[in-house]
Amino acid sequence: MSKLVVKNLDKSYVINEGFGKRSRVHALRNLTLEVSEGELVTVIGPSGCGKSTFLMVVAGIHPFDSGTLLLDGKPVNEPGLDRGVVFQDFALFAWMTVRDNVKFGLSMKGLPKEEQDRIAEHYLRLVNLLEFADVFPHRLSGGMKQRVGIARAMATEPEILLMDEPFGSLDAQTRKSLQVQLLDIWRETKKTIVFITHSVREAVFLSQRVVVLSSRPGCVVETISIDLSYEDRISLSDSLMKYERHLENLIEQQIEDDFGMQPGVMPPEPKQSGFSEKELLE
Ligand SMILES: Nc1ncnc2c1ncn2[C@@H]1O[C@H](COP(=O)(O)OP(=O)(O)O)[C@@H](O)[C@H]1O
Ligand SMILES: [Mg+2]
Repeated sequence: MSKLVVKNLDKSYVINEGFGKRSRVHALRNLTLEVSEGELVTVIGPSGCGKSTFLMVVAGIHPFDSGTLLLDGKPVNEPGLDRGVVFQDFALFAWMTVRDNVKFGLSMKGLPKEEQDRIAEHYLRLVNLLEFADVFPHRLSGGMKQRVGIARAMATEPEILLMDEPFGSLDAQTRKSLQVQLLDIWRETKKTIVFITHSVREAVFLSQRVVVLSSRPGCVVETISIDLSYEDRISLSDSLMKYERHLENLIEQQIEDDFGMQPGVMPPEPKQSGFSEKELLE
């Protein structure tokens, strides 16, 4: 069964330009995609195409104009503990220890104190930070802060984890290490994850499927299944490189299309799975 169903979703922002003048920015148009239970799907596309908007809409933080948005068959229209969100800028509570950050959602859920401690320890162990439980976030490196962010988002045991370029501000080495850790966590927990990135390699390395968005207004151009073993991913195998090249070409096309785009012209119909096994081997 589909965990997340997004059908013909439209989202625009109305901008107040002053002097009574208002304009509209169409961020997403006719966006359709589904995520299955236990899948790790990345959404990739040119800068400004509406990736963060999509995540904020699924998180229930931004309203959408029209279309269907269902999580476990239920309409989404406000934030909820069934969705865990991890942002690029960590967003940890500076005045709380690492442990209390992870316990935050659990106290909102009204769990007994011992239960909160037990769950927080479990997730801090999962991200390898148990020994830092009692320090404040300012003492942690960027990579550690983001691991706390992941533990905090997972601790409430949400139905789906939504991650918006969570490794975007980390240095290359830390980023690589967190990608491996996230892949390991996903293999262990089989959590449903929607991961936004603009790094093609990150998308191919992590996901089972990559959804490519057009330039703004974002709609699905192509969805590609990444059929790679764990070893292929870790060793950056030739097959991984082929997926990478295919996706890079696709995204370059989106940016070129953007230059020639006419106002009011509808984007093309999405291809469901344009990248066959045969094409990959060619
Ligand atoms: N709060 C907002 N108000 C007005 N326009 C916005 C807002 N957030 C995003 N946008 C616009 O919507 C478009 C998509 O932005 P965003 O979703 O942040 O793209 P991405 O994450 O793919 O870079 C951009 O043109 C951006 O300027
Ligand atoms: Mg963004």
